[in-house]
Amino acid sequence: MAKVLIIGAGGVGSVVVRKCARVPEVFEQIILASRRLASCEAIAETVDHPIKTAQVDADDAQQVIALIKKHKADMVINVALPYQDLSIMEAALATGVDYLDTANYEPPELARFEYRWQWAYHERFARRDIMALLGSGFDPGVTNVFCAYAQKHYFDEIHSIDIVDCNDGDHGHPFATNFNPEINIREITQPGKYWQEGRWIEIDPLSLSQTFEFPEVGPRRAYLLYHEEEESLVRHIHGLRQIRFWMTFSEDYLTHLRVLQNVGMTRITPVRFEGRDIVPLKFLKALLPDPGSLGKNYRGKTCIGCIFKGLYRDKPRKLMLYNVSDHRRCFEEVGAQAVSYTTGVPTMIGAKMMLTGVWKRAGVFNMEQFDPDPFMADLNRYGLPWQQLEL
Ligand SMILES: NC(=O)c1ccc[n+]([C@@H]2O[C@H](COP(=O)([O-])OP(=O)(O)OC[C@H]3O[C@@H](n4cnc5c(N)ncnc54)[C@H](OP(=O)(O)O)[C@@H]3O)[C@@H](O)[C@H]2O)c1
Repeated sequence: MAKVLIIGAGGVGSVVVRKCARVPEVFEQIILASRRLASCEAIAETVDHPIKTAQVDADDAQQVIALIKKHKADMVINVALPYQDLSIMEAALATGVDYLDTANYEPPELARFEYRWQWAYHERFARRDIMALLGSGFDPGVTNVFCAYAQKHYFDEIHSIDIVDCNDGDHGHPFATNFNPEINIREITQPGKYWQEGRWIEIDPLSLSQTFEFPEVGPRRAYLLYHEEEESLVRHIHGLRQIRFWMTFSEDYLTHLRVLQNVGMTRITPVRFEGRDIVPLKFLKALLPDPGSLGKNYRGKTCIGCIFKGLYRDKPRKLMLYNVSDHRRCFEEVGAQAVSYTTGVPTMIGAKMMLTGVWKRAGVFNMEQFDPDPFMADLNRYGLPWQQLEL
């Protein structure tokens, strides 16, 4: 039984707290900390389990260190923003506790996914005999575990992977993002990139699209984006020749995004406005609906998975592993929409793997570096049943 410090009381944090609270045999004590105490209290009030709350600015490693020490936490779960990854990792090192997150570090002034900043901590974590698990959400997260599972059970060689992410839900707003708007828009507006025959190929943002048949949803157009799990999967899936990531967007969403870009509202560099510096994207975030508030009226499904092509027993094989989640059902269970749900459940499972010693190594690791079987079993057990489709 363990004490866990969860940092970040947003849409994902609220699901992580609720899911951990339902597994008291592992998560004996939960401390929820965030930039605003009120965000933590609002979540704690709705959970049928004692949750301690605290205020913290996680950009400041010293504040996180003080909090870990005060509560004698055994591990820290980072579901704040990617900007805080390194300061929280520093705090984990200073206090000797394990670390988990769901999104790789991004410097605020540069919209770019790269693991190198966090991989650079491997030796220090190993020497301290603690573990960091990176990207324990859905994508990255479950998608990495799907890849490890396919490699272990279904293929002798995987030649190509298409990670496909479809949100077919409708929240009733003309424009909203399903997780933190600033992080989400930075992700979508950067150049697309995929890996083929040993090299990265860069394309203009959203310039390549394809229609995929999504189980339980139907055919939907998806756009090629660069996504962080590609960087680690290229290292860990043997024989891989191509990996791409695709996400669906409605025409309406893309039109809004184009207009916002054209008028400069997605800029991440400051502009001078009435005597002070304002980052337009941060201001836009303040105007858009809070992703945590979308759940109530959200209808429809998400379908996220991986399509693999390769060889099995000398024969070509094409297979899809995926999960379908329903926004309304997620809201009924935990008061959150399916994007927060599908991120928060694997966060809890990843933490459970570490705290129970099922996944335990010293250093910094990505999800596909561990045995996927116990994680896949827990997906079925804790609300994200997965399916397979021979294509
Ligand atoms: N892997 C995946 O599948 C996946 C999918 C979706 C999202 N994510 C990641 O999940 C994370 C959370 O997303 P979300 O949708 O929950 O975002 P969100 O609703 O904006 O929540 C983020 C929370 O972090 C807190 N925070 C921000 N800066 C902080 C700081 N300096 N110190 C302490 N707390 C701070 C905010 O605090 P206050 O409310 O207290 O101000 C907010 O509650 C993001 O990193 C996102 O990239 C991963």
